[in-house]
Amino acid sequence: MSLAVLVSGTGSILDAMVAAGLPVALVVSDRPCPAIGLAADHDIEAVVVRRDSFGDDFDRDAYTVRLTDLLVDRGVSLVAMAGFGTILGQPVYDRFAGQILNTHPALLPAFPGWHAVRDALAHGVTVTGCTVHLATLEVDAGPILAQGTVEVRPDDDEASLHERIKAVERRLYVDTIRSVLVGEASVAAPPVPAGASEGAST
Ligand code: GAR
Repeated sequence: MSLAVLVSGTGSILDAMVAAGLPVALVVSDRPCPAIGLAADHDIEAVVVRRDSFGDDFDRDAYTVRLTDLLVDRGVSLVAMAGFGTILGQPVYDRFAGQILNTHPALLPAFPGWHAVRDALAHGVTVTGCTVHLATLEVDAGPILAQGTVEVRPDDDEASLHERIKAVERRLYVDTIRSVLVGEASVAAPPVPAGASEGAST
């Protein structure tokens, strides 16, 4: 299996994957970011498919097709989103049905979306965590593969809590991907939810 990792940020989860020996063959980002430099440092092919070059209104389908073509061209068979900042459209889910994973910094189905850590703090939860799930067109809603919990401390702010969540994500995501790669975790094309429309796992 050939693994591609989609990133947009610091890439600390990507770093953990590489350190753990996962066979990362390709790293793709939607913007210039530290994670791309990190991939290059590890001699992993790194490609920036800039979302800001797809028009002021952002042509999501055209962007998705460009990214999908790249993954197909490189022979990718498993895709892991690790802090990827663009919602992808239907074409990638058609081509890689059931083969796209995501990690999210909350215990889904609680707190989906871009501000999961902030939202959890604002709601006053005492326990939050992270979720590794199969990505589907519906944002942060695909079948859950693994979850890890993190206690919220009274003095936590968004940054401190997110950092402790990421420490759990780095282990949980690596372990889950490894299980998928060796065939222990079954990854199958999920049913399309009724009424699914615009959106994708972040
Ligand atoms: C992770 O916490 C990941 O769950 C989150 O971005 C972070 C990436 O960290 N993803 C999302 O919030 C997507 N909804 P990193 O850049 O240090 O690897």
